[in-house]
Amino acid sequence: MSKLRVGVIGAGSISEFHFKGYAQHPDVEIVAVCDLNEERARAKATEFGASKVYTSVAEFLRDEAIDAVSVCTWNNTHAENSIAALKAGKHVLVEKPLCRTVEEALAIQEAVQESGKILQIGYVRRFGTNTKVLKKFIDAGELGEIYYAKASCLRRLGNPGGWFSDIQRSGGGPLIDLGVHVIDLCWYLMGKPKVKSVTGNTYNKLGNRGHIENFSFYQAADYDANHNTIEDMANALIRFENGASLAVDVSFTLHAKQEELAVKLYGDKGGAEVEPELAIVSEKHNTMLNITPQIDELSFDFEKGFASEVAHFVETCLGREETICPVEDGVEMLKILCGIYESSRTGKEVIYEAEKVLN
Ligand SMILES: NC(=O)c1ccc[n+]([C@@H]2O[C@H](COP(=O)([O-])OP(=O)(O)OC[C@H]3O[C@@H](n4cnc5c(N)ncnc54)[C@H](O)[C@@H]3O)[C@@H](O)[C@H]2O)c1
Repeated sequence: MSKLRVGVIGAGSISEFHFKGYAQHPDVEIVAVCDLNEERARAKATEFGASKVYTSVAEFLRDEAIDAVSVCTWNNTHAENSIAALKAGKHVLVEKPLCRTVEEALAIQEAVQESGKILQIGYVRRFGTNTKVLKKFIDAGELGEIYYAKASCLRRLGNPGGWFSDIQRSGGGPLIDLGVHVIDLCWYLMGKPKVKSVTGNTYNKLGNRGHIENFSFYQAADYDANHNTIEDMANALIRFENGASLAVDVSFTLHAKQEELAVKLYGDKGGAEVEPELAIVSEKHNTMLNITPQIDELSFDFEKGFASEVAHFVETCLGREETICPVEDGVEMLKILCGIYESSRTGKEVIYEAEKVLN
């Protein structure tokens, strides 16, 4: 196969970056677009030169001219769309989060194994230049054993509303939407240790604060301040089998003085910050050093990150690379996310038995 023929399911906001990534790749032909909203699908098909438009996923998947698909729909349909696509013989790039529950994640994993097709999770932050550079340092042992990490993604006023704030379609609030990015980034850079236990708290204290004036923020297309069934914020402490731990807090809204995005890792030989800006901390000749890599962007670049993620998926489908975001990583992530929600509900730490982790 020299050209990969792709289709995209879900032609909303994030699909733009998938389409752009495919359009940039010399070995890709964009064939079809599918969305429940025909107008939206048609607009993307016109913009990116796809000849076919579908409003039914089943019909779209019967199209034999499609080799690979991006799933860019709401979280509640990631599992059913991914499984159906794999069963139809297509490779799948599914947006984060992989899905909403551990059961859904295991069902996707089974479909991947049975189909023999490729499934890549859209962990786009792994494809940021800052992450890629740091990964090289970590793989070379520069940080030593990473035993602690800390991640924050705090919005002061940023509940996007629409499907994001409808728990049935999203599966949760800032934890599943933002937490998945920063937890995954730490976990990936820590070497993907097995989770041992989680303890967490979620809070529904502020609602979506529709009364706040003179402060702009991103709102989904069907924003409705009265519809909000998700948490405002979440925090957690995650313990791993190798003894390492990860502390995380995320919010859609919080009485915080400013927004915060911070991803930090601490090892026994050195430390690092991925966000807000890549920095490496070390010591030499009895002196502590803060090292600033000289690269174009020290922070995550959205367009470049997506282009790199999509290119990696294409290369994987064409048999030239092996995906760095396999389905197993999504299963482990859903265990962590769902464990945090469960811990908050019960007020207890969730402990994973060794066999439970392996199943
Ligand atoms: N990687 C990132 O940084 C990032 C950023 C934003 C969103 N996302 C993820 O992308 C996904 C989509 O988010 P969005 O912001 O683009 O939402 P969106 O609402 O803008 O777009 C989703 C589209 O999917 C369509 N859709 C929903 N269910 C469908 C189905 N069963 N069949 C066909 N079409 C369907 C909707 O009509 C809509 O057009 C979510 O999973 C979200 O978590 C990822």
